[in-house]
Amino acid sequence: MKRSRIMAGIKGLVFLVVLTFQWTHVTGDTEVSCIFMESCMLPCSYGGRDVVIHWIQVSTGDITVHSFYHNQDQLERQNQHFRGRTSLFNDQISTGNASLQLTKVEVQDEGKYKCYISTIDGNKESFINLKIDAQIQKVNIQQVGNIITCSSEGIYPKPELTWSTSPPSNITSKDITVQPTEQLLYNISSSLIVSDSETDLDYSCTISTRRNRKKATLFKPDPANDSPQSPNSNQLRATRGGIIGGLFVIAALAVLAVSAAVLCWSKKKDVSSALHTNQESTNTSDTKQAASFEQLLLSSNNYS
Ligand SMILES: *[C@@H]1O[C@H](CO)[C@@H](O)[C@H](O)[C@H]1NC(C)=O
Ligand SMILES: *[C@@H]1O[C@H](CO)[C@@H](O)[C@H](O)[C@H]1NC(C)=O
Ligand SMILES: *[C@@H]1O[C@H](CO)[C@@H](O)[C@H](O)[C@H]1NC(C)=O
Repeated sequence: MKRSRIMAGIKGLVFLVVLTFQWTHVTGDTEVSCIFMESCMLPCSYGGRDVVIHWIQVSTGDITVHSFYHNQDQLERQNQHFRGRTSLFNDQISTGNASLQLTKVEVQDEGKYKCYISTIDGNKESFINLKIDAQIQKVNIQQVGNIITCSSEGIYPKPELTWSTSPPSNITSKDITVQPTEQLLYNISSSLIVSDSETDLDYSCTISTRRNRKKATLFKPDPANDSPQSPNSNQLRATRGGIIGGLFVIAALAVLAVSAAVLCWSKKKDVSSALHTNQESTNTSDTKQAASFEQLLLSSNNYS
């Protein structure tokens, strides 16, 4: 009899231990990734009544992110870093939803969070690992002289940059500069010096993080144009364009002078209708210009 009572006692003790173990158990961490400056939800749920919820950022030395008890938010002890950026789904707390909504996510928010739950049935802790990503928006690539520069801004985590060419070749210099910004994001840039033997290549720059990857390509100068790509040849092209444009204007003026002389002989009405068809039939800027010169000439004719 005595023995069975002891056995019952032991059984009860074991039951209690198991119970305690079950009810204050610690679950495995949940991984959550959020986008820089967007909203983010850290999931947490529970069963039971009269809930006390504490959201704690563990990785920064247990700072209070958000608390809820006595049926309302309790923000007196909230760390100011989270001020105005946290909320619970208040209409769903009674149904066991203790998830935290965090807005305007910053890089500093990254880290480990604890959701501490206490109800009349016991306590529960669960952990969230929050990761932040500021994705690569745009990769800029440009050439000045014989230096090609590739850059991108506002990236997190630290990006990587690689150069490649088409057709493949070994590329000479590849210094990569990564600069942290005030928001703890990264600016990245790299410059490449193109030797004269390497001008016949397409240069590509790829920037990547764990979340995304973007590539920009600088295509080799079109062989149909004159070959060596340098600011000088661009200037030359611009000058040539100017000369050709000038010739057009001179030609147009000559045509105008002749037509004006001819037009002086005819009646004004006929002239304006002829002018009208001329404007409609073509669309290049040179003829438009010519037309407006003609109009100018005409209006001065009208006064004389
Ligand atoms: C809590 O409520 C939000 C908003 O309705 C929902 O998106 C989320 O999935 C819920 N989380 C849990 C753990 O029930
Ligand atoms: C390419 O790299 C190889 C070995 O790394 C080197 O021997 C060769 O000279 C390089 N070629 C050019 C065009 O730089
Ligand atoms: C990073 O890039 C941004 C956008 O171009 C610029 O405003 C900022 O000054 C840069 N920061 C650093 C540290 O280079």
